[in-house]
Amino acid sequence: MLGDKLGPERVGGSLFRGDSHPVELVVLSFAGEGTGRLNPVFLRVCNSMFCAYDPALSWEHNCIRGPQFYGADPVVPSVPLKRFLGLPVRSRFGIAAGILPNSTWLLPYARRGFDLLTWKTVRSRARACYPLPNWVLVDDGGRGDGPVTVVDPWQGDPRDVSSAVCFGMPSFSPVQWRADMRWAAGQLLEGQLMIVSVVASPEPDWSVEQIADDFALCAGWAVESGAGAIEANLSCPNVCSAEGSLYCDVLSSVRVVQRIRAAIGEVPLLLKLGVFPADELMVEFLRAVNGLANGVTLVNCVTREVLRGDGVPVFGEGYRRAGVLGRSIHRSTVSTVGRVREVIMRDGLSLELAAVGGVSRVCDAEALFAAGADAVLCGSSPAFLPGLAVEMKQAHPEW
Ligand SMILES: Cc1cc2nc3c(=O)[nH]c(=O)nc-3n(C[C@H](O)[C@H](O)[C@H](O)COP(=O)(O)O)c2cc1C
Repeated sequence: MLGDKLGPERVGGSLFRGDSHPVELVVLSFAGEGTGRLNPVFLRVCNSMFCAYDPALSWEHNCIRGPQFYGADPVVPSVPLKRFLGLPVRSRFGIAAGILPNSTWLLPYARRGFDLLTWKTVRSRARACYPLPNWVLVDDGGRGDGPVTVVDPWQGDPRDVSSAVCFGMPSFSPVQWRADMRWAAGQLLEGQLMIVSVVASPEPDWSVEQIADDFALCAGWAVESGAGAIEANLSCPNVCSAEGSLYCDVLSSVRVVQRIRAAIGEVPLLLKLGVFPADELMVEFLRAVNGLANGVTLVNCVTREVLRGDGVPVFGEGYRRAGVLGRSIHRSTVSTVGRVREVIMRDGLSLELAAVGGVSRVCDAEALFAAGADAVLCGSSPAFLPGLAVEMKQAHPEW
């Protein structure tokens, strides 16, 4: 396997202060390994296509190991500062909540020129990852809905990858992520923004107030730990509990956003959203959070059936529908971003717009900026294309 042939990435290269890390990143457990559920499809895929994350290994193992890159660090073009969320940033391009679960992942990508760095969603308590597989490549058959099929093996261009994930929003314990985050924040360069994604971990009987308090607790901790901005994850397609699709409940979302705002003061707040089932709901939501949040990040994955070639759900019967992302959602994301921008302009809302969905080429980001994005983020593609920020800066130093 590719990763086994390469040494792990070292943090603390020339761009960063070489301080040694204060926290030992011993994690929850290696859940899923040794269960016989290793994913042979992805093992073969990784043989033919580079991936910094090894989907045949558990999430915990990947967290400790860090991204596996080849070659020397790229030379990152120097570009002027701009503003996003009222803050000076080196570029309005970066990574969405997903492949940066700790400093071991976040700092190497910062060093590759990604300036908006979203820390994968954290919780107020440790949460194990779902068993393997957690991440598979898929073919959507050229359709925008209906089932997608696991690809075995991937033969095409990595820029055309669509994939599906089912992690269940795992989290380190707050003791671990708070210390790790504090350390990472001190390593970033001028103009690099660490955005921390947070979510609640409700018990089945929790009220909206309790959920809001749990969101606020995490957000407050993240700010204490050096977050430059907070992202409240109001949308996760792969959890069945109340935190999964809060954005479709406008009143509850407002309550959550109010509580977070009270906990974080003036720190910029983004809201991570999925695709709205109807435009009327989208308009109602945007109007309701205007003045409370600073912006929205959209979209999260699109939920579809994810099947193996023999029709069996690849993530198990309980997760027949899971989050699909990458190339397959790009066109619909451009359209969603355009519609959200239209509402923001028409209603004079003071919300910034971070767009995410299927960006793996310069022209993909161009399409999203043209549709009205203030910033463009990548979820999955930097795992396959770690040089993407350098490409973007070469083509568009003004971004
Ligand atoms: C490995 C992986 C893990 C993810 N985990 C999270 C998460 O914890 N929280 C979140 O809001 N979105 C998460 N996402 C979704 C991404 O932020 C993004 O919305 C989605 O991948 C679509 O972007 P893309 O088409 O560029 O991949 C994850 C995505 C990937 C690939």
